[in-house]
Amino acid sequence: MALRKIVEVGEDCLTKVCRPVTDFNARLGQLLDDMAETLAEAGGAGLAAPQVGVLRRACLVLDEDTEEYLELINPEIIAQSGEQTGLEGCLSVPGKWGIVTRPNVVRVRAQDREGNWFEAQGEGLTARCFCHEIEHLDGHIYTEHIDRFLTDEELKEYLEDEED
Ligand code: NI
Repeated sequence: MALRKIVEVGEDCLTKVCRPVTDFNARLGQLLDDMAETLAEAGGAGLAAPQVGVLRRACLVLDEDTEEYLELINPEIIAQSGEQTGLEGCLSVPGKWGIVTRPNVVRVRAQDREGNWFEAQGEGLTARCFCHEIEHLDGHIYTEHIDRFLTDEELKEYLEDEED
């Protein structure tokens, strides 16, 4: 496994529509292993392949229940319900945060690294993460949903409120 460089906003690869994964081979496994190591090192909740410069439809999402990364290849959202409004950030937009409204429950259909289709459902942070990472695969970043970034003071207040 190896750490990969996380590209930052402004790079072309973050604005492209990624192509489906068609080869479920060792190279894909290596990419996913590297992404997991990179994500763990960065301490994030999710990472999409274009964030490491690979324009393919693959991403990782932290499953809050198992605390493991769920590997989503060629994922699509098949159902969503409810609404949540909360803090969101991105490893490609370091040190910045915004408030984004997302569905509260999201169900996805995706392939695993062997190519088998499965469905997964997430609530709260996991649901938010499904939306955020799958958007990356279409060249979108959460900042498109916000008017402005939070100030340091607002971020502090927000985190304090969440602890209560
Ligand atoms: Ni992101």
